[in-house]
Amino acid sequence: MRQVAIVALLVVSPVVTASDDFERTPVRYSQATPCNSVSRLQAKLDSGKLKLTYHKEHGYLPAVLTALNVPTSSQTLVFSKTSLQRSRIAPKSPRAIYFSDDMYVGFCQAGQVVEISAVDPKLGAVFYTLDQHETDRPTFERQIDGCILCHGSSQTRNVPGHIVRSVYADKWGEAILSLGSTRVDQSTPFDRRWGGWYVTGTHGKQSHLGNLVIRNRNDQETIANNPEGRNVTDLKTFFDPASYLTPHSDLIALMVLEHQAEAHNLIARATIQTRLALHDQALLNKELGRSADEVSETTQRRIKSVAEPLVRYLLFGGEAKLTDKVQGTSAFATDFAKQGPRDKKGRSLREFDLTKRLFRYPCSYLVYSEAFREMPTVVRDHVYQRMHEVLIDRDYTGGFGHLSSDDRRAILEILRDTMDDLPGYWRQ
Ligand code: HEC
Repeated sequence: MRQVAIVALLVVSPVVTASDDFERTPVRYSQATPCNSVSRLQAKLDSGKLKLTYHKEHGYLPAVLTALNVPTSSQTLVFSKTSLQRSRIAPKSPRAIYFSDDMYVGFCQAGQVVEISAVDPKLGAVFYTLDQHETDRPTFERQIDGCILCHGSSQTRNVPGHIVRSVYADKWGEAILSLGSTRVDQSTPFDRRWGGWYVTGTHGKQSHLGNLVIRNRNDQETIANNPEGRNVTDLKTFFDPASYLTPHSDLIALMVLEHQAEAHNLIARATIQTRLALHDQALLNKELGRSADEVSETTQRRIKSVAEPLVRYLLFGGEAKLTDKVQGTSAFATDFAKQGPRDKKGRSLREFDLTKRLFRYPCSYLVYSEAFREMPTVVRDHVYQRMHEVLIDRDYTGGFGHLSSDDRRAILEILRDTMDDLPGYWRQ
């Protein structure tokens, strides 16, 4: 069922066509039955095994975060009116976003709904809203058209996915698009990030666009250098943080969010495009009377074209370099690093570096996620094979020059100790 509870006034007008790949067989995004942490939570609510407690100030938000295992310390705050509940978002009342490895939760002050994007291993991002009025039967309503409009566009690599943007916002939170805007991921230089977002943390001499409210478009100095927005550790001068679950919009949480959102989009693209390619191949084999397991060069090429960018991204190819130490203000980094898993020497992909790059061992922890592990076998095999080639030091081409021999060896050893489904050749 398509349910669109909210009509948004759009800042961006992405192009959505009826021929969206993800609506084709066998994906059929709108018709398919999702299977992710939200659908599993809903089943528990329906069976009465679990109840969501209503909070008088924040509605269902705290209970949803607990039930979905999303840490409060992941809170980041965005004040540009770039998303759905536009009228609720402004520099004095930013939107809060919380996330875990497979979940994103959005909250607006006095918002009608909690907004959720769940990572679904087969479908990419699946969207839900939860009504913020108290009820006996809280229900996560699946939302399609009203979200896909932005979340299934060129901003998300044309799959149902996640967005992080950096804009120049005025005192109402309106994005001034004539000054430019950036789609943000791990490769975005520091000085282009966080326009329209609050940022708490320290970062030395590096500049960024966070905490910047444009009051005068001709003030070139402020727009270019953002002197007041740097190294901010307390947001009280901007708005009243007491009305949020925490007073932070943590710098490290933001950097992890930016890594992760794009990684999820690339995983979703690899899964969806491979499912389509295999389906096309099966039809062709049938038509030409070929054996069912025949895989043509064209199909192989289609799979490779989505696997290669994923490998590069997961190994942090093209990551923007840090030139000074960065530090957040909340417990996010500690909470995140604690989760492990760790190898025999105690090392983990979740350990931070924070002086020259984000992580100490540049390989994404999302290799442990359900979405990665449930990619179709052919594409996952390709990803594993390429990662192995890079890690055993054979491949210095294709943008892996940032990995030293020590990095490669450490990542290889960590993966061998912490992943149980690696192909046999990884063990030799
Ligand atoms: C007008 C475009 C637009 C629409 C429509 C929209 N979003 Fe978003 N959404 C954004 C942007 C842009 C961001 C990035 C953060 C920001 O700028 O607020 C975002 C971020 C999010 C996030 C944080 C992580 C992520 O997935 O990017 C969630 C959760 C989310 N939106 C949920 C929803 C849901 C649920 C709907 C539909 C009910 C929806 N959004 C509709 C533009 C939109």
